[in-house]
Amino acid sequence: MDLFNVYPLWDIEPIEAKGCDIIAKDGQHYTDLYGGHAVISIGHSHPKYIEKISNQVSKLGFYSNAVQNSLQKELAKKLGEVCGYEDYHLFLCNSGAEANENALKVASFHTGKAKVLAFQKAFHGRTSGAVAATDNPKIQSPFNKGHNIVFVPLNDIQAVENELIKGDFCAVIIEGIQGVAGIYSPEVEFLKSLRALCDKYGVVLILDEIQSGYGRTGKFFAHQHADIQADIITTAKGMANGFPIGGVIISPKIKAEFGMLGTTFGGNHLACAAAIAVLDIIKSENLIENAKVIGDYLFEKLEGNRAISELRGKGLMIGMEIKPEFEGLRNRLLFEKHIFTGGAGKNVIRLLPPLCITKEIADQFIEAINELTK
Ligand SMILES: Cc1ncc(COP(=O)(O)O)c(C=O)c1O
Repeated sequence: MDLFNVYPLWDIEPIEAKGCDIIAKDGQHYTDLYGGHAVISIGHSHPKYIEKISNQVSKLGFYSNAVQNSLQKELAKKLGEVCGYEDYHLFLCNSGAEANENALKVASFHTGKAKVLAFQKAFHGRTSGAVAATDNPKIQSPFNKGHNIVFVPLNDIQAVENELIKGDFCAVIIEGIQGVAGIYSPEVEFLKSLRALCDKYGVVLILDEIQSGYGRTGKFFAHQHADIQADIITTAKGMANGFPIGGVIISPKIKAEFGMLGTTFGGNHLACAAAIAVLDIIKSENLIENAKVIGDYLFEKLEGNRAISELRGKGLMIGMEIKPEFEGLRNRLLFEKHIFTGGAGKNVIRLLPPLCITKEIADQFIEAINELTK
């Protein structure tokens, strides 16, 4: 059987990795400033992470959600403490799209309404409702297009109110920072007004922190830079450093009912062990602070680079808008300097490194990009 061919692939096969270093099958080392798409939060092959998962799988890897699982409770408690949403409730699933799918469903159950407001250029995943709330018709099938979603421009609060005033919306869904679009941040004042409008019209505010959360921007969630609270927060990528897991963090004002949500694999023992190890390591190694410090350092050093027309983002979620005359820079970083970065469209390079990145690695990248663009 051949694979269903949906990915254009580089001819590189990583077989080993440690920290921010990846080793490919041919022995070539690569510096990881991409984190496998913002997934590697604590660095590759962290010994405490390996130990925690190995111990767990040697005891019990999986049992169903029909029985007690104290690892889920431990994860929820630790996550509540570190993210500041201690009185919220956690539903565990397996991916980012699934987290958003469940969040939209909860909002719809809670309000009894079906319409969703999302933002232009948004990306929320590939499943039914999540891809419908993604502003990219090319990845939506006719089946997905059946959902009732309205897109308005990011940071246009009047456009939001013009829609919400109609009274038929269950939710607004917004990324903490738009990632796939090329790193675009909602403004602080916009988020504050959005929060107020959701309260005014009884609409559930969903913050998709799947890419921007888990400490990446220097706060646990990116929307916390605006000092607002969401009604539902979705998380995934960095949550278990590559072990599949997603989380839906739900306000206590939304009541759970048996049967409302459910999953076979979500919250399994192994995933919880991996996610607990990640939170313990984020805390003991001050990785949120490191994201801020190294992020600020990268911004300072990249400012003024002649290939970059605009620098966007926060902490270790950085978008570099590359001038057309430097097109191909991402591939040159990969093939000439052996540095993995992310892309967005034709002209944006995204930096989404593990949160444990050091100043030395940042310097190595700055030297490489300066050399390629001098
Ligand atoms: C903001 C955001 N939401 C949702 C998703 C979907 O996550 P997953 O690929 O785990 O389904 C992504 C993935 O890139 C994302 O960046």
